[in-house]
Amino acid sequence: MARILGVGIATLDIINSVAAYPPEDAEVRALAQRVCRGGNCTNSLVVLSQLGHDCAWGGVLADEPDAIRITDDLNAFGIDLAAVRRLAHGKVPTSYITLNQQNGSRTIVHYRDLPEYRYEDFQTVDLAGFDWLHFEGRNIADTARMLELARITRPQTPRSAEIEKPRPGIEQLFPLATLLLFSRAYVQAQAGGEPAQFLHDMRQRAPQADLILAWGEAGAWALSRSGQLIHSPAFPPPRVVDTLGAGDTFNAGIIDALARRLTLAEALEAACRLAGRKCGQAGLNFVGQYA
Ligand code: ADP
Ligand code: FRU
Repeated sequence: MARILGVGIATLDIINSVAAYPPEDAEVRALAQRVCRGGNCTNSLVVLSQLGHDCAWGGVLADEPDAIRITDDLNAFGIDLAAVRRLAHGKVPTSYITLNQQNGSRTIVHYRDLPEYRYEDFQTVDLAGFDWLHFEGRNIADTARMLELARITRPQTPRSAEIEKPRPGIEQLFPLATLLLFSRAYVQAQAGGEPAQFLHDMRQRAPQADLILAWGEAGAWALSRSGQLIHSPAFPPPRVVDTLGAGDTFNAGIIDALARRLTLAEALEAACRLAGRKCGQAGLNFVGQYA
C-alpha cells in the first residue's frame, strides 16, 4: 500500500446514455442519465483507493451544492481532503457527457470557471507523508513549480504527470517528472505520428522519465528510461459499454503497479487489463472485483 497525493480536478459529470450519437441540431431522448463525480485526477485516485492505496487529493472546490456530491463520493472512497482549497463562491467544473451505447464512446462538453490549485496551496502540504505524487498537466506555471519543489525536497518520491491536452507551455513539465503519461488525444493534437516514434521523439525532452502512451483499443506503449520500447495490447471486455475514465483508470493501473515495484512491462499490461475491464462496466466502482 502506498500513500498517494493527486493534484488535479474534480468535476460534476452529467452523463446521458443514448442509443446512437445524435446528428447536429437533432432532438433525441436519453435512455438513462447518471450524475456523478468525475475529473481525471480524482477518477484515478478513486481507482487507486480501490486497489488498496491511501490517497489524498489536492484540488479546488467551491462552496455550492454540487460540491457536496463530489465530497460525498471522495469520502466514500476514503480520500483525504485536507489539502483541498475551498472557495466561498463559484461553481464546480461541469461536464455534459453523451455516452453512445453502441460503442461506449463518450463525447464531453466541459465547462469550467473555477480558479486552479496553486503552488501556494501545494506548499502547505507535508510531502514527507507521501510515497507517490501525481499531477494533472494543467495550470502549467504552478504545476511546474510544484514538480520542482517535490524534486528538490523529496528527490526519492516518484512524480507522475498526465499530459492529456496540448496546453501552452506543457512541455515545461517534461523534464520535471519521473513518469510521463501521454494520451492519444495529445499526440494527435501535435500533428499525430506513430506511438513508438512519438515516444522516441519525446526521449530527448525527458531523458530522466519513463514514458507511457495509451492508445485506446490498440492498447499502450512505453519507453523506459533505459530505452526499452514496450507494447501491451488492449484487453477488450465482452462488450464495451462505457469508455469514460478509461484513461484515468489506465493511469491508476500504471501508478499502482509501479508503486508495487512491478516492472514497466508488467505495469503496462496490468493497466491495460484494468482499463479494459473498466470499459466493460458503467462508472469506476469496482467494489469487490479486486479482492
Ligand atoms: P482516454 O480515456 O484518455 O481516451 P484511451 O482511449 O487511450 O484513454 O484508453 C486508455 C486505455 O484504456 C487504453 O490504453 C486501453 O488499455 C483501454 N481501452 C480504451 N478503449 C478500449 C476498448 N475499446 N477496449 C479495450 N480497452 C480499451
Ligand atoms: C474523464 C473525465 C471526466 C471529466 C472530464 C474532465 O476522463 O475526467 O470525468 O468530466 O474527463 O476533462
